Amino acid sequence: MLKGFKNAAELDFTLEENAKKIEEAFRQVDAEKGKIYPLIIGGERIETEKKITSISPSTKEVLGYACSCSQELADKAVQAANEAFKTWSVAPVEERIRCLRRLTALLEENRYILDAWNVEESGKNWGEADGELCEALDFFNSYAMHMRKLAEGLELVPTDEDTKCTYIPIGVGAIIPPWNFPLSICGGMVASALVTGNTVICKPSSDTPIVAYKFIELCEKAGFPVGTVNYIPGSGSDIGDYIVEHPLTRFINFTGSKVVGCRINERAAKISEGQRWIKRVVAEMGGKNAIIVDSSANIKKAAQGIVNSAFTFQGQKCSACSRAIVMCDVYDELVDAVVDCAKELKENQGSGRSNAPMGPVINENAYKSITEYVEIARQEGNIVYGGNYSDAEGYYIEPTVVRDITRDARIANEEIFGPVLAVIKVESFDEALDIANQTEYGLTGSVYSEDRENIQKAKVQFHVGNLYFNRKSTAAVVLQHPFGGFNMSGTDAKTGTSDYLTNFLNLKSITEDL
Ligand code: SER
Repeated sequence: MLKGFKNAAELDFTLEENAKKIEEAFRQVDAEKGKIYPLIIGGERIETEKKITSISPSTKEVLGYACSCSQELADKAVQAANEAFKTWSVAPVEERIRCLRRLTALLEENRYILDAWNVEESGKNWGEADGELCEALDFFNSYAMHMRKLAEGLELVPTDEDTKCTYIPIGVGAIIPPWNFPLSICGGMVASALVTGNTVICKPSSDTPIVAYKFIELCEKAGFPVGTVNYIPGSGSDIGDYIVEHPLTRFINFTGSKVVGCRINERAAKISEGQRWIKRVVAEMGGKNAIIVDSSANIKKAAQGIVNSAFTFQGQKCSACSRAIVMCDVYDELVDAVVDCAKELKENQGSGRSNAPMGPVINENAYKSITEYVEIARQEGNIVYGGNYSDAEGYYIEPTVVRDITRDARIANEEIFGPVLAVIKVESFDEALDIANQTEYGLTGSVYSEDRENIQKAKVQFHVGNLYFNRKSTAAVVLQHPFGGFNMSGTDAKTGTSDYLTNFLNLKSITEDL
């Protein structure tokens, strides 16, 4: 049992005082729109000719321009991080923890403005943005706590020799976070590397470079020394392979698509000239997550859980449910209940800033790809709810429920990363488990059941990194539900845990004969 750790509490935006503060923060965002964000390398602000345009998915408005890093500047960033590693890696652990504590305080101080930028750049609503900020706070607090404990080293058998086995940092990390949690996942990846004594180059997603810039600025303010954190937005084709293959890169921490994650893993395995280690790769990739509903389930509760898991943040979470696998005798009832729950979302779809329960998808490419799947769904099954979309003002797709989908259908197997739910009918619980496990992914899964035998069977046979019962498949809470997936979902580095930190540490065993 973990004592002395408390998860951060989300803001209540139904309170007028809090709503006013975020409205004020939106006005501040408006005043800053159109700004240019430079690279940050070794503390130096560097502007480049080439820019990445950050666009609001809610309105298509330009939010700002991030400078785009070249290979030459990426090399400068790796060199700066490598130089900083020489001193940061031997800085006292307490000093690293102090910086992380200051970062936590700075995040809290800048809470509303960070939430507001997140809403504008990613298209989330207020609660989702603040939930993310809480997750970032939880990551920082948990990593500070774990690092203090790890600093004690491993417990060993006493002998007449003096032996210590201590954790030491490993080097420069390339941090490649996603756009869907631009603060918490980016923050968790950067903080875990820094508190373990490593240094980083951070290449944020081109969809959310401003949130990342604001975060990196706070890292600097928190006192992480010059060069320990470098900010280098850039396209994957310009600098992605380059930073992965750089001989001074010691590890890569990536969250994103399976295709990119597998490419990183392959490139990282190749030894570059002058490289002196085998690189470590931590990758968190996709999912094709299922929720099983058996005949004994509370159908209303199951429907609400499925709708929450499938459609919050427009289904753009790697933990999102995209398959409901339902026993035949409750199938029709479940589909009707899902449609009822989805109604509220569709009727109130709107921009993140208007705090609508459902907003836009992230960008034009996502819009195209997801709407293609909506059309595939129309052919493969029966759309009983949603199915319309429009990119006139922003990238809006209705929550779409598709029934009569067979296990071989494309929408039952391919990751869509959008608000499209396939509902599959099964004759037995064994068949449900078989279909749930047929995917190459293995991230989250959930079962709604009151049947102990089925629950026990699923505990053993449902092969996913995060398995839930009678609960939605999204919204893992730090140190309540350590998060990370099996198979093609990633390397199963469970975020928020002490284990996670050991990905960025070596164990050194030192023995002196007395
Ligand atoms: N950790 C998030 C969730 O559980 C996804 O990244 O929904």
